Amino acid sequence: MANVVVVGAQWGDEGKGKIVDWLSDRADVVVRFQGGHNAGHTLVVDGVTYKLSLLPSGVVRGKLSIIGNGVVVDPHALISEIERLKGQGVDITPDTLKVADNATLILSLHGELDALREGSNEGTRIGTTKRGIGPAYEDKVGRRAIRLRDLANLSTLRPKIERLLSHHNALRRGFGLPEFTVDAIYDELASAAPKVLPYLDATWEILDERRRAGDRILFEGAQGALLDVDHGTYPFVTSSNTVAGQAATGSGLGPKAVGYVLGIAKAYTTRVGEGPFPTELTDEVGRRLGERGHEFGTVTGRPRRCGWLDAVALRQTARTSGIDGIALTKLDVLDGLPEIRVCVGYELDGKRISRLPASQGAQARIEPIYETVEGWSGTTAGARSWAQLPAQAIKFVRRIEELIECPIALVSTSPERADTILVADPFED
Ligand code: IMP
Repeated sequence: MANVVVVGAQWGDEGKGKIVDWLSDRADVVVRFQGGHNAGHTLVVDGVTYKLSLLPSGVVRGKLSIIGNGVVVDPHALISEIERLKGQGVDITPDTLKVADNATLILSLHGELDALREGSNEGTRIGTTKRGIGPAYEDKVGRRAIRLRDLANLSTLRPKIERLLSHHNALRRGFGLPEFTVDAIYDELASAAPKVLPYLDATWEILDERRRAGDRILFEGAQGALLDVDHGTYPFVTSSNTVAGQAATGSGLGPKAVGYVLGIAKAYTTRVGEGPFPTELTDEVGRRLGERGHEFGTVTGRPRRCGWLDAVALRQTARTSGIDGIALTKLDVLDGLPEIRVCVGYELDGKRISRLPASQGAQARIEPIYETVEGWSGTTAGARSWAQLPAQAIKFVRRIEELIECPIALVSTSPERADTILVADPFED
């Protein structure tokens, strides 16, 4: 029996919600280990839709849910998400939800700075969610951040705010904007403190105890490996490590606590925001994928860019995350296409290459080399066994396995939980 890490294997939005929900039903503990409320996970349980941004998916199923130290937490966003879900009848208490007391806070000044930068220059825009994720992580590694535990001791907060503002007000002056006052930031934090403090705990210790007791832990990744701050399409990335290795660091456990790594990948590719996307389709086929796949951002509502499956990038993320098996989602979106293309290499300055180059310039210049496979006329929607798939669809899945050098552990054929072809059970592997 293994603990399971779920990570996105592309640029996010791979359909993690359904898979995570299925796994969280069978886990004892669910932990988020990076990112923040930039994530958008949609769960459909017994016909009811739940939209989660910061809370681990386990809350919906009453599992012990943990926001780990690697997450950046906007306390007001946390409070309002808890209230919203409680309004939907989800029971969230300090017994079922624990937040790492050493996690970093996102303040409103982070969101403002994020939006300011995004609005300022066409050329340097990342296309962020403007939730303040990047600026909060900057303060964390800059060692001037305010952490959740600081809310427990309000009398010591002012010097910490002064330290933070010595940096932020210098930036504000540069932008020609009025400076923040210590009082304003203090009030923002003090007003959140009583509602957030009951959830704080040394979550690394709880996880360690649960692990020793043999509980099943599900590590719930957000975004995708190609948005990883080291391994992604830098600088068009998020500000955290999204690869599976972060599951250990971001929850306070050692690497051996992480067992099976399940990567989630769509049968095609999407991306929200700016940055290279070698297989992007701006034609009718791209529009069709977007329409059939309902490709609009959960958090921002932005239309997602769509394109063919990039097997080169996927093989790379399978390696950088040590993926044991892939959950292939949204196969049904390809139903009815006469032919399907898969990127099997890139051409860079007249040479064929077989990995995503690290340089920003090279990433912008690479051209995809495609292999074309025959489509299928039948439908894969709702299939629950290989026998229910058209022969060509099976061939397509098998070809992907070969190209990415990683087994497909399950295939998802609709948003319904039961519409899944299970090849290997990550918890039993
Ligand atoms: P940030 O995480 O808000 O800083 O945004 C950085 C990049 O990550 C942008 O391209 C966003 O569109 C992308 N991003 C952040 N969160 C998600 C997500 O949950 N799904 C897909 N893309 C995301």
